[in-house]
Amino acid sequence: MGAGHHRMPFFQKLSQTQREAFTAHSTAQLMSQFLHGEQGAVMTAACVTHSVPDINAKLYAATQTMDEARHVEVFAKYCEKVAIVYPMAKGLKGVIDATLKSDRFEKVMIGMNMIVESMALGSFNNVYRTTQCELLKKLMFGVMRDESRHVTFGHTYLGPLFAKMHPDDLEDCAEFAFQAVSMMWRRPGAATTTDSVDKGFLEVLENSNIDPADFFKGMKEAAEQGITQELPPGQIHSLNDLMMPALARVGLFTPTIRKKYDEAGITIFEDQRVLEAMEGGNPVA
Ligand SMILES: [Fe+2]
Ligand SMILES: [Fe+2]
Repeated sequence: MGAGHHRMPFFQKLSQTQREAFTAHSTAQLMSQFLHGEQGAVMTAACVTHSVPDINAKLYAATQTMDEARHVEVFAKYCEKVAIVYPMAKGLKGVIDATLKSDRFEKVMIGMNMIVESMALGSFNNVYRTTQCELLKKLMFGVMRDESRHVTFGHTYLGPLFAKMHPDDLEDCAEFAFQAVSMMWRRPGAATTTDSVDKGFLEVLENSNIDPADFFKGMKEAAEQGITQELPPGQIHSLNDLMMPALARVGLFTPTIRKKYDEAGITIFEDQRVLEAMEGGNPVA
């Protein structure tokens, strides 16, 4: 499980104990992000509930808030079983904080229903596909079905709204989406130094008795060989397969904002196929 570390040649040189500890701790770190993300989702969904003016959207957001509370409960219980909680990753915290502090409900929905939930949906699918834990597989399937509905809500509600929004306001929302994507985006092959990864991940290495210097050297070598770039079949790249296509679909890549993505070196992906398949509520086969 995780970001394909097991396919790195370096990983094969570790002892079995180190490999098993790494698998356990990196999974615990991921589960912790799910827990933190769901806690954020309760707050953002509640925020949409009270700030969205449309009554039907308000009622929907109320049901989403309840879904998210259920997700918090389930991940809290799972993390309790695993008996360790890692800190919230910087990117995730940045996006959720910005979302909660934003000045309009459309931005709250961009931050949650498009950015964070796309991220979650991809990760849940990948865990569902790879885990050997039957309980986790079941949990993933249930949570994924809810999340795909939340992503669809973001699209169904925001799409028509953006289509008739004043261009200045749309630009403002597109800028917010760009800032949020920038926080989540990582340059391909960049996770090769201690500074470029989260503090939580360094704790994973420490708890697995793996020397960070050896690890990053291994990551760098693997990146140079193109090993970590490819996702195994059935695995989803949350940003390219779900998040960017979701933003594209509602018109958040305006000509002005496209230049900013370009300057930041972030490639825009607009292929809707994986997104549409996931919205059917099923993992990608
Ligand atoms: Fe959720
Ligand atoms: Fe959700």
